[in-house]
Amino acid sequence: MLTATRPQFTINRIGKHLGAEISGIDLSQELDDDTFARVAEAFFDNEVVFFRNQKLTPAQQVAFTRRFGILEQHVRKESRLAGHPEILIVSNLLDDKGNAIGSQDAGRFWHSDLSYKAEPSMLSALYSVEVPIKDGRILGDTSFASTTAAYAALPEATKQRLQGLKNVHSYRYYRNKNARAQEEELARGGRVIQEHMPTEEQLKTVPDVETPVVRTHPVTKRKGLFLNEAHTSGIAGMPKAEGDALLAELYAHIIKPEFVYCHQWQAGDLLMWDNCAAQHKATFDYDLPQRRLMYRTTVRGTAPF
Ligand SMILES: [Fe+2]
Repeated sequence: MLTATRPQFTINRIGKHLGAEISGIDLSQELDDDTFARVAEAFFDNEVVFFRNQKLTPAQQVAFTRRFGILEQHVRKESRLAGHPEILIVSNLLDDKGNAIGSQDAGRFWHSDLSYKAEPSMLSALYSVEVPIKDGRILGDTSFASTTAAYAALPEATKQRLQGLKNVHSYRYYRNKNARAQEEELARGGRVIQEHMPTEEQLKTVPDVETPVVRTHPVTKRKGLFLNEAHTSGIAGMPKAEGDALLAELYAHIIKPEFVYCHQWQAGDLLMWDNCAAQHKATFDYDLPQRRLMYRTTVRGTAPF
């Protein structure tokens, strides 16, 4: 019979408003309920947490993250790990036919995962299998910004203005924006990031949704800005120019350095972020033969309010 482990662990906050390292836990072992509850509390409190030096099988990653809720299966079936449909492959690796083995963009724009769904993701967990290294330096950092700290720091007048506003989250908008960005990169002679574009059938499964601009976190009850440059196509009911100006102002505010934690990956990291309280963006400073391979699991959330 398996016995659940009850380790002592430590939490070291690193970013000013988000980001903490949890040490002393082996996630390949089943955690007892009390330890899991304390890990979950630390996670929601810090918005981004990471565990170094983990050795996880896909099944162990699925088992740990499943304790937070129902795991999503990504719209793009092609990017799921064979035998583990809950795992999205995030990688720049190609198969022997030269096709991307997973999702390669890993977040070209600031976003929170699956925000275009009626019930957007609660949290995502990324397990780092291989990290790109050049001249002894690890590349491919991921930046995270606290949307709750950014909201709290807004002037009172702006908070009033945002009250009751909704924004439209659209996977179709994102698909088109991504396609344009790739074309522009190509025109500049830049690197093509090969990406599985969702088909029309796949797009139909995720119709546009309207969500509150100011969202209350379902667990911590903190208020945060729930909009992002990848998925938000506009402010509902507002003339486009006015809405775009407001969005640009808020996007710039959210990514002020004081609200950002930048993670430098190591192989063996399991990092989790709270999609209700943070957004993230990848850095593309690596290319083959530097290899990057990560596995993502995503826990389903609830409709924003
Ligand atoms: Fe993402």
